[in-house]
Amino acid sequence: MKNKEDTKAKDIAVLMMAGKGERLLSSLQVKKQFFKLDGKELFLYPLETLALSECFKSILLVVSPEDKEKVSEIVRKNKQISRRKISIVDGGNTRNESVYNALKSLKKQKGNFYVLIHDAARPFLTVEQVKDIMSKTYRADALTYCLPLADSLFRDDRRGIVYLDRKDLYQVQTPQVFDYRKLLAIYEQGYDPNGTDDFSKAVHSGLKCLPLPGDLCLFKVTGKEDLALLRKLSVFVE
Ligand code: CTP
Ligand code: MG
Repeated sequence: MKNKEDTKAKDIAVLMMAGKGERLLSSLQVKKQFFKLDGKELFLYPLETLALSECFKSILLVVSPEDKEKVSEIVRKNKQISRRKISIVDGGNTRNESVYNALKSLKKQKGNFYVLIHDAARPFLTVEQVKDIMSKTYRADALTYCLPLADSLFRDDRRGIVYLDRKDLYQVQTPQVFDYRKLLAIYEQGYDPNGTDDFSKAVHSGLKCLPLPGDLCLFKVTGKEDLALLRKLSVFVE
């Protein structure tokens, strides 16, 4: 997909949308990123937000090869984003592989920059949140939104139920933002394949990390219980 650079910005946004959406497939009949909420595919919600923020030189969509054509077509038809610099890269079998593919595809970019990584399955990202996290990149190598736990928390395993102290515990969300070269180096040196996000990799590698207060609305559409929430919250989004 063509077009000139959006702004003077040098940072790049990556939208993760190459998952199989297995946990919701039987309820939705389509991968959740393509589920139409009020007539619009779910991935378009955060994509429009990223485009509208004007924080990025370009936006990279990480897509399964089988969905590439469909995604290009949807993007082309969308007036909000069709004039932006948007490209597509193949996803992998796991989220880690998908992120690594995205990072490798950005190697030719000149100089260093920050890369924002966001799950397409978190539709209710706001322009304010994007601007806020991007305005704080000078403070750290890695930044993430996260949510303090509101509910009590216990672990239930063979030893029985053990309550944990929820103070100081956070749920990790996206977007997450990284110094591009430093995150790429972590992936190139070999990462823990069990890590479910990239901020954890930055923490384990000793990068300077900054957690920021997130929002309940940044929840990830994951299981059936999220669908009611999704529909309710969509009322508040234009
Ligand atoms: N993702 C990706 N590539 C993968 C796996 C996940 O780009 N190989 C993306 C998903 O599209 C999603 C985000 O990472 O936006 C978070 O993943 P998750 O919620 O687990 O989505 P899925 O893997 O699609 O769902 P499921 O685990 O139920 O199959
Ligand atoms: Mg998954």
